[in-house]
Amino acid sequence: MSDSIAVTAHNLYKFFGRRPRDAVRRLENGESRDVVSRTGTPAVIDASFEVKKGEIFVVMGLSGSGKSTLIRMLNGLVEPTSGTVTIDGTVITGASPARVREVRRRSVSMVFQHFALLPHRTVLDNAAYSLEIQGVPAAERRERALAVVRRVGLDGWENKLPGELSGGMQQRVGLARALAADTDILLMDEAFSALDPLIRREMQEQLIELQAEYDKTIIFITHDLNEAMFIGDRIAVMRDGRIVQVGTPEEILTDPATDYVAQFVKDVDRARVLTAASVMEPVRALVSLTAGPRAALRVMRDLQTSAVFVVGEGRRYLGVVRDRDVMRLVRNSDPDLSSVIERPTSSVTGETALSELFEASVESALPVAVVDSRDRLLGVIPRVTLLGALGNVSTTTGEIDLVEPAPTISVEVITQTLLATAQQPQGALVTANEGSK
Ligand SMILES: Nc1ncnc2c1ncn2[C@@H]1O[C@H](COP(=O)(O)OP(=O)(O)OP(=O)(O)O)[C@@H](O)[C@H]1O
Ligand SMILES: [Mg+2]
Repeated sequence: MSDSIAVTAHNLYKFFGRRPRDAVRRLENGESRDVVSRTGTPAVIDASFEVKKGEIFVVMGLSGSGKSTLIRMLNGLVEPTSGTVTIDGTVITGASPARVREVRRRSVSMVFQHFALLPHRTVLDNAAYSLEIQGVPAAERRERALAVVRRVGLDGWENKLPGELSGGMQQRVGLARALAADTDILLMDEAFSALDPLIRREMQEQLIELQAEYDKTIIFITHDLNEAMFIGDRIAVMRDGRIVQVGTPEEILTDPATDYVAQFVKDVDRARVLTAASVMEPVRALVSLTAGPRAALRVMRDLQTSAVFVVGEGRRYLGVVRDRDVMRLVRNSDPDLSSVIERPTSSVTGETALSELFEASVESALPVAVVDSRDRLLGVIPRVTLLGALGNVSTTTGEIDLVEPAPTISVEVITQTLLATAQQPQGALVTANEGSK
């Protein structure tokens, strides 16, 4: 993802009704939406944001919050009452209709909720339709359309009519048509909302793949927060025409800007959104390989743990040593920790979703190690931290609050897990002192 900007919305307003400019002025002067609504609908109020090139930017909000109106202003289908839209450096607001059409043709395609396919044309011809409008010669059209139709998984269906396809397949045609147009920007208005949950999930996954492969900038509208969290690099949350927060899924989840957003994110599947990096803690029980067995024992005594993490040169993660093994080395005057280092759990990277940590966390009582791409130890995730993060995240700091019992994971579950941990012979709850008896 580069840092250059694909789309800018600057103080956008859209008022449907009488004397729209006057209504906007009243809103700017602080008059409430309710009062201004007496003469019409303030569909979008003072929306400003930038969408970066190569980003999936999601606009999320309930029905009527202004999402479609907003996205239609972005491609010039709806003229803003005030404010400006810039696409790839060109201000389209107030430009001539011909100019707007030109920018749209060159830069922006749209995928609709109800597919908007031409019923009497084949899958291939539907996919090629945007190319036809662009005046691309027939042979090239066919070739390009065929490539995208295959890419979206419709190999063998090229000559069918839309009516012969399932909903999910029809939307693949819609996607193929938008991809064939080869514009940098893709606008998708509730594109997956009409699909069954399983098909929908498949389409979301494929969209993320396609985005990476074709390096598109995607603006995706949905009223489904789980969908927003799954596919969005950043999410704009809309309420009653206003954007109330723009942030990454993690920011929205851990630091909701308003009570409204907090209410919204209450039901989100945290395990799939939060990453290892967002909940990991600094490694306290840590020694370097060169420090040797005595230093390792000292750390275990000081911290009252029965194991420490060991790193090599440049903080490279080597594994864990346990108290008994280290005691034996000290008794034998062996200065080298290498022979007793274990890798009890596979390490994970910072981007790993918490949902993928359960296994590692259950396998071993020791905290899960988080490493970077060069295998350097970044932090650790103790099991209680993992459990805590899934139920109870402080809204102000994003830090894990372990004092309050988690609302979604019961105290019993945490207790049982911890008891199971204690019963394991190699459990981390044995202190260094006990181990040395
Ligand atoms: N052409 C129009 N004329 C008058 N009012 C409109 C027009 N288009 C939209 N509105 C109103 O503007 C408000 C925002 O509508 P919009 O379609 O943008 O919302 P939305 O978030 O896309 O909703 P949904 O999730 O139902 O698609 C609504 O109150 C709607 O009735
Ligand atoms: Mg809509």
